[in-house]
Amino acid sequence: MTNHPPQTMGQQFGRRSWAEPWKIKMVEPLTVISREERQKALVDAGYNTFLLRSEDVCIDLLTDSGTSAMSDRQWAGMMLGDEAYAGSRNFYHLENAIQTYYGYRHIVPTHQGRGAEHLLSRTSIKPGQWVAGNMYFTTTRLHQELAGATFVDVIIDEAHDPANLHPFKGNVDLAKLEALVRRVGAEKVAYVSLAGTVNMAGGQPVSMANVKALRELCDRYGIKIYLDATRMVENALFIQEREDGYAGRSIAEILREFCDYTDGGWISAKKDSLVNIGGWLAVNDWTLFEELRNQVVIFEGLHTYGGLAGRDMEAMAIGIVESVQDDHVRSRVGQVRYLGELLTDWGIPIVQPVGGHAIFLDARRFYAHLPQDRFPAQTLAAELYLDSGIRSMERGIVSAGRDAKTGDHYYPKLELTRLTIPRRVYTQAHMDVTAEAVKAVFDAREQARGLKMVYEPKYLRFFQARFEPL
Ligand SMILES: Cc1ncc(COP(=O)(O)O)c(C=O)c1O
Repeated sequence: MTNHPPQTMGQQFGRRSWAEPWKIKMVEPLTVISREERQKALVDAGYNTFLLRSEDVCIDLLTDSGTSAMSDRQWAGMMLGDEAYAGSRNFYHLENAIQTYYGYRHIVPTHQGRGAEHLLSRTSIKPGQWVAGNMYFTTTRLHQELAGATFVDVIIDEAHDPANLHPFKGNVDLAKLEALVRRVGAEKVAYVSLAGTVNMAGGQPVSMANVKALRELCDRYGIKIYLDATRMVENALFIQEREDGYAGRSIAEILREFCDYTDGGWISAKKDSLVNIGGWLAVNDWTLFEELRNQVVIFEGLHTYGGLAGRDMEAMAIGIVESVQDDHVRSRVGQVRYLGELLTDWGIPIVQPVGGHAIFLDARRFYAHLPQDRFPAQTLAAELYLDSGIRSMERGIVSAGRDAKTGDHYYPKLELTRLTIPRRVYTQAHMDVTAEAVKAVFDAREQARGLKMVYEPKYLRFFQARFEPL
């Protein structure tokens, strides 16, 4: 007998429960290794969760990238791969899905998101130019910098405050953008790199009103807008829920309207589009497309496969259609929110409001006694793994990297540890176990001493850096 009548998920939060719009047909066993084995695995991995072997991980919340479960339709589509070198029928299915749901005219497939970022940066940036964006993303900014640009963050200030409840913390601060344009001259701004949702801010959305106003501003100065639409489907849900006039509109309609305010976009299909590999870049301008089509053959593959097998393109085309179904998006974001509600109720500091793809633990407040150069977010990821075999990742000073000009660390205001939820993979019980593990680490927080970095790769150091305990 329990002391209280048991409550369902919905009852705990005073609402009716919801359920995922799918059932499970195939399962993959999970094992839990002992604490001693986890301690050894952590040392071998240099306290970097990216360097752990996945078989040593129990619940894997490292990333939502390429970790989704595909549907039976997608697997059936894999069997229809047309593996011709040129003109595969799967490419035309993909092209059609992108044109229908994202609305862009000319499509270049790429092996994943950074392949698209590489091509866009090479073709659209002249050395010495500036790129303005609503907060940086690691690979995106690096490609822009390698092409000779300086990145300028023009996101609203609220995005840098984990406790601020602004409903659209991904919005561009138009005054900051205009100040940049006035300072350097419009011809020096290569483009606006707009992301929806904003990963590094905690999966925070951009409003329709903001992209509309951004379009007007950019039109006045003749500046292009390219959209990182990697998680734009999730962004569309927040618009549907929070923005006046969109409650009755479908995710697909909102997605399309948003993209129509931009000149082109790219995605890592490993997120929203429910595939394990893939990406694309798409633009409306024919001249730019010609250049991209020419570059893709150098770096990715022919313009009708871009580094992908025909079967991958088919799975992506089907995944795009599945990804924009309202019930799918609601349950996907609903699961993230459920974990967030548990942690919030227990007083654990997380980025608010909860975003689309992950819970971001606020490591600054979690480990208030650790200065940023002791890598609190990295420490938290290591402690969580040690406690329970759950893998998360750092999104703070390590991910921010160094300023190429001064050689100093970037010191981002946000020092976060990300619990990223793969799509259609884990159950509510996994979320409960995760929440309890975070609580256990939180309760032991005062014992944490931090880490020192003992190996630092030149680029994207968070992937391969090594640490030792202090
Ligand atoms: C917002 C965003 N843009 C771009 C990328 C890069 O995509 P990929 O990992 O497929 O190269 C990612 C990957 O995490 C991302 O989250």
